[in-house]
Amino acid sequence: MTRRTAATDTGEERYELTWTGKRAALAAARTPSAGRLVADPDRSIDGPAPPHLFVEGDNLEVLKLLAAEHAGHVRLIYIDPPYATGNAFVYNDDFGDRGRHSRWLSMMLPRLVLARDLLTDDGLIAVSIDDHETAQLRLLLDETFGTDNFVATVCVRARASVSNDRLVSPSHHFVHLYARDIGALSARRTGFGLDPVLDGFDLTDERGPYRLVPLDGPGGAKKGNPHYEFQGVTGYWRYSKRTMQAKYDAGLVVVRPRALLQKYYRDDAAAKRRTATTWWDEEMQTSTATRRLRELMGEAVFDSPKPVELVRRLVTMAANEDGDVVLDFFAGSGTTGQAVLEANTADGRRRRYICVTLPEPTAERSEARRVGYRTVADITVARLQRVTPEGEGLEVRLLVPENT
Ligand SMILES: C[S@@+](CC[C@H](N)C(=O)[O-])C[C@H]1O[C@@H](n2cnc3c(N)ncnc32)[C@H](O)[C@@H]1O
Repeated sequence: MTRRTAATDTGEERYELTWTGKRAALAAARTPSAGRLVADPDRSIDGPAPPHLFVEGDNLEVLKLLAAEHAGHVRLIYIDPPYATGNAFVYNDDFGDRGRHSRWLSMMLPRLVLARDLLTDDGLIAVSIDDHETAQLRLLLDETFGTDNFVATVCVRARASVSNDRLVSPSHHFVHLYARDIGALSARRTGFGLDPVLDGFDLTDERGPYRLVPLDGPGGAKKGNPHYEFQGVTGYWRYSKRTMQAKYDAGLVVVRPRALLQKYYRDDAAAKRRTATTWWDEEMQTSTATRRLRELMGEAVFDSPKPVELVRRLVTMAANEDGDVVLDFFAGSGTTGQAVLEANTADGRRRRYICVTLPEPTAERSEARRVGYRTVADITVARLQRVTPEGEGLEVRLLVPENT
């Protein structure tokens, strides 16, 4: 892989991300699918249309086939691709790290190109990754979605313990967020972000519950805050004297012996949706996810699932309307399906999930195989069947070659 940066692009050199196999990878996105999707009624659950959807098969083909029904209709894509940790498709190559990155990029490029076409204009893609490929992924996302459409990188604490296995123990991973069109996503800003915390609004007046917040200008003079005396209290304030007076006249300023405070109403807080870029809760940790999945399935059937809470948070942040479709095309054990259903239960919305995963064989001597799951897709279906609530449908489809 080479990445060249030139202060000024010239005929010979320009800023670009390139690697061995890139052209073929792009061509793979453009080749029509050689397969079709067939329903698997035995594993589906009947329910009122439209049902949730699970597709078993290679996501490159499946993404092409989903375009016919879903192009431009998916509000949120969450994926947790293989991290290229040294196994799966990326091992055993003769090129060392460079070959590994090239293969990983070649695998991701056509899938991201196809994924982009499925998103609504105001849709969002969220991609989990760790240190192995985070640098390559950012550049690839910049290229496929456009640098202007970068929204944020969320840093998630994945484990609490600190080990000696590395010089500095990695305990987090990343979720890169990109908009399909940052302008369209920004236009629905009031519907985007996490629900505000509404604790502590213990006081009430005729406008409703409120709490008191300081009126000091943070950073004092250095931040250019105005300095003046108001109602006998002198300090650096958040507002100009004129604005302060207007707020005081409106009954919003409370004067204390050495402080000025402002009423902050619960209703105003409820209308503000904000999201920070560090997600540090215990519920975000892999150990929590592993424990919860074991409780649900009765056995440890899948290594390192993502926490339902992580995906649920992304869902409540970015897919907030009835009918929103959430897609995960590296679905693994089906965490995203469960997260969508839990988000629906919590806020009463009717979102739908589409999960896609490969029928990768489970390991010979694994717990999953011992209890009868031959493939990862068997685990996904079992989990989705288990969490799908009464009255909702699940359609299972299989990818099959065109001529069968
Ligand atoms: C890191 S795991 C995802 C785990 C998932 N987030 C969870 O919580 O269970 C990646 C999954 O993608 C699947 N996968 C890899 N290549 C794929 C492909 N080409 N098409 C569909 N799924 C694929 C793997 O079999 C694996 O189950």
